Amino acid sequence: MKILVTGGLGFIGSHTVVELQNEGFDVVVIDDLSNSSIEVLDGITAITGKKPEFEQIDLRDKAAVQAFFSKYNDVSGIIHFAASKAVGESVENPLLYYENNLGSLVYLLQGLQQKEKSHFIFSSSCTVYGQAEKMPITEDAPIQVAMSPYGNTKQIGEEIITDVANVSNISAILLRYFNPVGAHDSVMIGELPKGTPQNLVPFITQTAIGLREQLSVFGDDYPTPDGTCIRDYIHVVDLAKAHVTALKRLIDSKNADKVEVFNLGTGKGNSVLEVINAFEKVTGQKLNYKIVARRAGDITEAYADTAKANNVLGWKAELTMEDALASAWKWEKKVRGKE
Ligand code: WQD
Repeated sequence: MKILVTGGLGFIGSHTVVELQNEGFDVVVIDDLSNSSIEVLDGITAITGKKPEFEQIDLRDKAAVQAFFSKYNDVSGIIHFAASKAVGESVENPLLYYENNLGSLVYLLQGLQQKEKSHFIFSSSCTVYGQAEKMPITEDAPIQVAMSPYGNTKQIGEEIITDVANVSNISAILLRYFNPVGAHDSVMIGELPKGTPQNLVPFITQTAIGLREQLSVFGDDYPTPDGTCIRDYIHVVDLAKAHVTALKRLIDSKNADKVEVFNLGTGKGNSVLEVINAFEKVTGQKLNYKIVARRAGDITEAYADTAKANNVLGWKAELTMEDALASAWKWEKKVRGKE
């Protein structure tokens, strides 16, 4: 059985390809290299000893996607990561996001629905909940009006998949990630943000290594114990393993419905200042940071209720935020040649 991983040279995608290969799956990767580099293929191969097949395709190109399915007619499962994911950019350039994130999804589903029986794992996000009323957040927390076109493409994407799965031979699992962080212990793969990192942990490691002058902490006047926002930071390797568990669930027809939803987090919330303190403790690096104004669009608090993922999906995060921070630091030093 061949599995297509779109965005498979990206941060979460590459870690998932490793776990798929570790479990004996044959993997073909599609990536347009817009936010990743071809060297990641070597990193994956160095870890598993197996080089995934690779096609550089822009998934907005319908003909190219159709040609892919003709060439790889043994693909019966897709784990779909490929998407634009910068919240701020999506506000400035909504059509880029709707075309890229939704157009590509439609073409992939068209390719799959020709098959006898097929499986689709979708990279969704806790962003669909907006600022949830109740913590921890369960899968039946209400979906709030999206705060950005990026978040909207995740919500619409889930609806498109549900509508198609209900009338085809496709079964699907929607995985709503909390905050993915860290790197594979081998430091052969990790997070490689292009340009100025939007996310907290890569900004922390780039500041600690001297690439960035100072970390700005976006606000300490939130209604939380130390005033900074709380998130559920999940190790990317745990997250990757959840995708393999979800795929196996569909292959073994263990899914209770044509479409299932799972929140993927540790169930623990940490504030920005707690992440900074943990980073300093774990690495021995003093971090230069200052408190500045809030960032528009940030929610106060989000952490997962992991009961459904643990008891139904049969997956549980094993690694801690400290493990993730240590691996992120190890990776940063390797990438900057300071190992
Ligand atoms: C975390 C916390 C910031 C940077 C985003 C997307 C979400 C998902 C994960 C794709 C917040 C604070 C950050 C900095 C800071 N992406 N922060 N200084 O915003 O929770 O989630 O990434 O699916 O959809 O929205 O993650 O890492 O950007 O921010 O103080 O330089 O760190 O205010 O409280 P976020 P983040």
